[in-house]
Amino acid sequence: MENIIDVINNAAEYIADSIKFTPEIAIILGSGLGPLADEVQSPVVIKYSDIPGFHASTVKGHAGELVCGMISDKKVIVMSGRFHYYEGHDMDAVTLPIRVFAKLGIKKLIVTNAAGGIKSSLNPGSIMLITDHLSYMCPSPLRGPNLDEFGPRFKDMTEVYTKEYIEAARMTAKEHNIPVDEGVYCFFRGPQYETPAEIRGIAILGADAAGMSTVPEAIVARHCGMKILGISLITNKAAGLSPTELSHSEVTAIAKKAELNMVTLVKNTISRL
Ligand code: HPA
Repeated sequence: MENIIDVINNAAEYIADSIKFTPEIAIILGSGLGPLADEVQSPVVIKYSDIPGFHASTVKGHAGELVCGMISDKKVIVMSGRFHYYEGHDMDAVTLPIRVFAKLGIKKLIVTNAAGGIKSSLNPGSIMLITDHLSYMCPSPLRGPNLDEFGPRFKDMTEVYTKEYIEAARMTAKEHNIPVDEGVYCFFRGPQYETPAEIRGIAILGADAAGMSTVPEAIVARHCGMKILGISLITNKAAGLSPTELSHSEVTAIAKKAELNMVTLVKNTISRL
């Protein structure tokens, strides 16, 4: 098997050769949040299948490409589609893009997702700024030999989601009259949705929303020393909190309705980071 450092270096080299500029911010788009990719000016589009070491995206609603260019006068790389643990990837594959971005010199990350709301104020269509996360259910993406060139063996996780970025998003939301909530995101491995008992359990532990992504990427990004803004789009009440069953089509339908607010929020926050 190819050494992980070689995989990272080869992918970074391929992207650097393709875009010919130094990106400043990486943005990961969650389910149904794809339209932000259309906001990229002078885009260079790179398919995951063309990047050495990258897998194809298997999830409906995830394009599976990097869209590189300008948003709000900042040079960005937008990941339209991400890799999930539930697709069968190991954590090195799930978080490969983050380390590739670090190699490209990126120090700022915006990570978005669709999530189920647990806190009573979170309803379908709500936007939640992530203040912290629970990773109990998440196999650590830092397990195994430490990649010393990226970060230390035992990395502090006191402030995964950068306070000044949360404040920047709050200010943008206020300016554009977009209601935003804040809370703690809890990772579940999926792909099945949670049981009501699981949701009641993590609510006791302090979770405000549940989802199947973001935490592995955020842990690796912090390990690399990146500053992170995390935003959840609440697409449904979490299991047991709504009278209807959960479905992926409900998740994408709500994401579609709320996408304008998400796009406005992210686009206008970028210039503040
Ligand atoms: N649980 C987990 N992941 C999700 C949910 C949920 O309720 N909604 C959207 N993604």
